Amino acid sequence: MYHILTASQFDRKELEKIFNCADRLKNRCGDPLRGNPFLMAQGRLMATLFYEPSTRTRLSFEAAMSRLGGSSISTENASEFSSSVKGETLADTIRVVSSYADVVVLRHTSKGAAKQAAESSRVPIINAGDGAGEHPTQALLDLYTIRSELGECDGVKVSLVGDLRNGRTIHSLIYLLSRYSDVKIQLVSPDDLSLPVELTDYLASCKIPCQVCNSMKEVFAWNPDVVYMTRIQDERMGFQKRQATLCLASKDLINLPEKCVIMHPLPRREEIEIGVDGDARAAYFRQAENGLYVRMALLCGLFS
Ligand code: NCD
Repeated sequence: MYHILTASQFDRKELEKIFNCADRLKNRCGDPLRGNPFLMAQGRLMATLFYEPSTRTRLSFEAAMSRLGGSSISTENASEFSSSVKGETLADTIRVVSSYADVVVLRHTSKGAAKQAAESSRVPIINAGDGAGEHPTQALLDLYTIRSELGECDGVKVSLVGDLRNGRTIHSLIYLLSRYSDVKIQLVSPDDLSLPVELTDYLASCKIPCQVCNSMKEVFAWNPDVVYMTRIQDERMGFQKRQATLCLASKDLINLPEKCVIMHPLPRREEIEIGVDGDARAAYFRQAENGLYVRMALLCGLFS
């Protein structure tokens, strides 16, 4: 069974296959009135089971399913409205939901929840974010965006900025970047929000050059091809609102290379000033749109 649990499960060949499929879908999907010609998911049902808030991930999965001719059932606030309130275990919930649907997209508060769900599921589980663990489908669309914006992923210099400790999109993106050659990574975070040691060890084992630092000044001095900003994940720190200290303002744009790609998984807060949006290098809304094509490609792979 083809579960999608971690970004580390993809090799370069599979990534290229997904991205080529996403390219084809993107070109055919330009006109919503024409619909999608493939109808790969016709007669199939997807369940989206979300225990944490989401806008893009859930809606783009459901839109992807719908554009492929399939349909979805959903609990968007499962912590409050599913039987978990009554004390049902995740394993029991998954056993039941997987008897209704052909694929289950799960977002959960706990790291490892998707892997655990896969053990009691009759159908593929897609990890749509497991606590501070991973978010593999976001990383796929992130890498697809880098490829679309720059033409290739080999040799890219990527600054990862913000809450590297809790940012699950960062964790998954690191696994995917490691599949490409000559990649260089800059890890930029407040000292107490640095990348978990399992990931710094992983980067060292792949011999990927890494620079660890804590200021935007160092980002500008490094001349990155990609600046990937993230928000502080307050929900992993007891919901204490903490202001970002690593921020990109429009006055900073002059310090970034002309061809730099500015990315963010969204939702953004103060870490990217709204004034940056109009700059041609600001790719985060194109990145969010790419989520649709990449998730369509993943569902095509699943149902083909
Ligand atoms: C991310 C997530 O949920 O991890 N959002 C998303 O899926 N686009 C990033 C975040 O919430 O900060």
